[in-house]
Amino acid sequence: MGAEAGESVFRRVAVGCDHGGFSLKETVLEVLGQLGIQAADFGTSSEESVDYPSFALPVAEAVSRGECDAGILLCGTGIGMAIAANKVPGVRAAVCGCSCTAALTRSHNDANVLALGARVTGGALVQDAVRAFCTTPFDGGRHTGRLRAIAEIEEKYGPGGSERGG
Ligand code: RB5
Repeated sequence: MGAEAGESVFRRVAVGCDHGGFSLKETVLEVLGQLGIQAADFGTSSEESVDYPSFALPVAEAVSRGECDAGILLCGTGIGMAIAANKVPGVRAAVCGCSCTAALTRSHNDANVLALGARVTGGALVQDAVRAFCTTPFDGGRHTGRLRAIAEIEEKYGPGGSERGG
């Protein structure tokens, strides 16, 4: 891919959070705006307690269907959001707490969902992680076959897959 340094590789990014991630959602939206990325905000919109899978699902589906190029999810740790999002076919969600892992999960894993933990990662690190995630292209090369192997696991357990029985 031919993105210039600091240029976004995504045009439209889906964003979602639960009450544990709400405190940093605005920060994420601001960084996306600075990068010229259109954000689709799937909520939540307050610190009232909600269930994170309800917000992971629409974000992951928007990515899986190609309606958004990528997603960013926030909860207390990022972990629940990533577990839920990774159940949706085609989604590769990664929990990252710094720019280093956020860049590597793009360049090595072609991650299409970034999961952040607002209770464990400070605002400055979240800003750095979002910038790195959105500006780092997939390296391709030796990583491509590994992604294919991940997709084959998904197919094995999906409809018509050998582990689904009949
Ligand atoms: C909510 O209390 C918390 O469990 C949630 O935000 C998240 O951290 C789950 O992984």
